[in-house]
Amino acid sequence: MPRLFAFALAALLGGTAAFAQNPSEPYVGQPGKDVVWVPTPHTLTEKMLDMAKVTSKDFVMDLGSGDGRNVIAAAKRGARALGVEYEAQLVQISRKNAQAAGVGDKAQFVQGDMFEADISQATVLALFLLPDNLRRLKPKFEKLKPGTRIVTNGFEIDGWEAKEIARIDKDCGGWCTAYLYILPARAKE
Ligand SMILES: C[S@@+](CC[C@H](N)C(=O)[O-])C[C@H]1O[C@@H](n2cnc3c(N)ncnc32)[C@H](O)[C@@H]1O
Repeated sequence: MPRLFAFALAALLGGTAAFAQNPSEPYVGQPGKDVVWVPTPHTLTEKMLDMAKVTSKDFVMDLGSGDGRNVIAAAKRGARALGVEYEAQLVQISRKNAQAAGVGDKAQFVQGDMFEADISQATVLALFLLPDNLRRLKPKFEKLKPGTRIVTNGFEIDGWEAKEIARIDKDCGGWCTAYLYILPARAKE
């Protein structure tokens, strides 16, 4: 699959260069427990939150929250937001970024495994995960409250019909497509 290839390539190429420049910063392709760190372009994060119609009434979660950008962007829209990230370094960076963005109160981060996280209170999930990760999480998704929105960067949820697919064409590198699902999701025919 070309996009999977792109993911791996970004991991291999982008990563090494960034790491060489500043080892204390995360680098594209930095290993993670179940998926490497590749950031969602800020433009696509905003598009994903638009698609999910995030407001101050929402509780937004990101599983594998990286440097915290989806969570921080949601908090800037007034939502309460929580990132679950396995890598302690990324959790620290996220907290620092949230403080710097002035949303340290609304944007929270925990170090943990996304497959063990309690997502039952989320009204929105904003995710950038591989198809296999999404497949493993699907039984948890199926238990979410009706009306919960899931937006994904780049990869679809196996077997579900996206309610909306959006593509942006500026400042998104290879990650320009987002998918919206609203629970209960429709099965693909
Ligand atoms: C593709 S990156 C996405 C980062 C962020 N969500 C974004 O959109 O910019 C995936 C992230 O998942 C984290 N990760 C990998 N396996 C994990 C696990 N089992 N539990 C929590 N985080 C995990 C990685 O460390 C990485 O930061």
